[in-house]
Amino acid sequence: MTFSTSPVAAGLRTAYAADLTAIPPGTSVSICGWVNRIRQHGEHLVFVDVRDHTGIVQCVLAKRDDLRPEYVVQVSGEVFPRPEGTENPQIPTGSVEIRDGIVTVLSEAEPIPFSLDDRVEVEEATRLRHRYLDLRRERMQRNLRLRAQINSAIRAAMEEQGFVEIETPLLWTPTPEGAREFYVPSRTQPGSFYSLPQSPQIAKQLLMVAGFDRYYQIARCLRDEDLRSDRQFEFTQLDVEASFVGQADVHRFISNAMARVIANVFDGRTVDIGTISWREAMGRYGSDKPDRRFGHPLVDVTGVFAKTEVRALSAPHVAALLDPEPTSLSRARLDQLVERARALGAKGLLWVKVAQDGEGYSISSPVSKLLDRSEVEQLLEQTGAGDGDVILLVADEWEKAVTTLGQIRLERGRHLADPKELDLFWVVDFPLFEGLDEAGKPISAHHPFTMPNEEDLDLLETDPLSVRSQSYDLVLNGWELGSGSIRIHRADIQRRIFSTLGIDEETANSRFGFLLEAFRYGAPPHGGFAIGIDRLAALLAGETNIREIIAYPKTQSGIDLMTQAPKQLDAATLAPLGLTVRPVQRG
Ligand code: AMO
Repeated sequence: MTFSTSPVAAGLRTAYAADLTAIPPGTSVSICGWVNRIRQHGEHLVFVDVRDHTGIVQCVLAKRDDLRPEYVVQVSGEVFPRPEGTENPQIPTGSVEIRDGIVTVLSEAEPIPFSLDDRVEVEEATRLRHRYLDLRRERMQRNLRLRAQINSAIRAAMEEQGFVEIETPLLWTPTPEGAREFYVPSRTQPGSFYSLPQSPQIAKQLLMVAGFDRYYQIARCLRDEDLRSDRQFEFTQLDVEASFVGQADVHRFISNAMARVIANVFDGRTVDIGTISWREAMGRYGSDKPDRRFGHPLVDVTGVFAKTEVRALSAPHVAALLDPEPTSLSRARLDQLVERARALGAKGLLWVKVAQDGEGYSISSPVSKLLDRSEVEQLLEQTGAGDGDVILLVADEWEKAVTTLGQIRLERGRHLADPKELDLFWVVDFPLFEGLDEAGKPISAHHPFTMPNEEDLDLLETDPLSVRSQSYDLVLNGWELGSGSIRIHRADIQRRIFSTLGIDEETANSRFGFLLEAFRYGAPPHGGFAIGIDRLAALLAGETNIREIIAYPKTQSGIDLMTQAPKQLDAATLAPLGLTVRPVQRG
């Protein structure tokens, strides 16, 4: 009799490992997988653990010596509960075994270069060099399957909301989104190059002009930027654009998709998605992607020191932080924090230790003699400091003070965050520009197609740095998960933005004339968003590096250790592309 509880078990297999606990004793099955472990049992028997992606099955066979770990086998036999006392409660399939199994070796295997046991730490270079083996490990199987589950929930949520998936080109033209691009030489147009898309930004805006008023795509994006734990050259976005919508509509579409993903991954778990303004995020956490899970927000104590004698505290802004782990702050450690604040670009950092003293409190600090009583009282009151606390103070321009102390907050408290908590929220009201370039021109905080807040339009020419934009980010546990904006669809506003950015008409036309032209033929108001799926999957999998949820990632230096890409090409290959390579000095 054949038996299958899994709709996908077929071919050489009739069941997966995980199916076996639900099968009546005595049923004949065939399972397929890799030999995980072999144990000789007396003179006549051998126990072979066979692994498929659903689990490990113990198979009891007549003794044979020719099996080795990682051989690919089919085992046919009968399923039975394990004899009492021999069950293994550590694994889900530990209550059953296959008896009288007949093994067919489907493929032999050489000894593999590292252990596949998740508990064994393996050097990352070795893992990446043999990624196909690394992916056999339970953790990696789980991660990539989780990622697929996320994609599937996203597709369901977007389609339910009336979005259509449209694929946009990978061979594309440069777009002004801020990252360095990858270029691909053209054979048919020697000397010319395509750009690989940083994102489908312009393509999706053109789809709005084309009347696809709810577009989405699980889109590959490519950026030639320095690789970090949350950045790869290639990554994937849930890319979304919609017409005739405002910011609240875009938030709703994305929040629905996120809720669906989280419910799907964590068995019905719900999540509240709040909203804070960019100013509040910066003021309270010194970051536009705050990790709020461990509390300890910054406190604005500028008013306390309005008339202070302490020169180091007379600054436009004074930010205070109650250190999350004050007992660990030795004098030497405090000195290091001062140095750290300087390394982060602030003038310094002051600390104030608080101790209960009878009814009141006493303080110790390098500036304790210069602080007057009322300053100390207000400082304790506003920060809520009590016995044993250490208050850290950074005084500087607002942004410098909060970002420096915000970074120190993160470094001091990050490890206290609950890894199981999901703190997901929108950050809104970003500034349109993030400072000035060397020529004194503003720099777009998001991209130049972002709509300014209409109330601030009058400030565009007079005080551009105070113009807020209709752009927004989604943050999860201190990572920027995604960002988006309402776009400019009016040619007059777009012209004003280009002129503020110092992009003249000729440059604008040569770089994205096709978009400006399209906007002349009836562009609906529109806006959108993009979520980094690699980051989302990593956070939901509890990983701290997106490499762990990407099948074939690159190393920090951008190399694929398995294929050894990138590779040099010979002159004959390059000639039709109109290219010759000059010898490169490698540093
Ligand atoms: P943005 O550039 O902010 O916006 O990108 C959106 C999200 O994509 C992810 N991301 C990355 N993930 C891994 N590796 C990278 N190198 C990388 N770069 C970005 C992040 C980020 O939040 N076109 C706009 C979106 C829009 O306005 O609709 C855009 O791409 O999670």
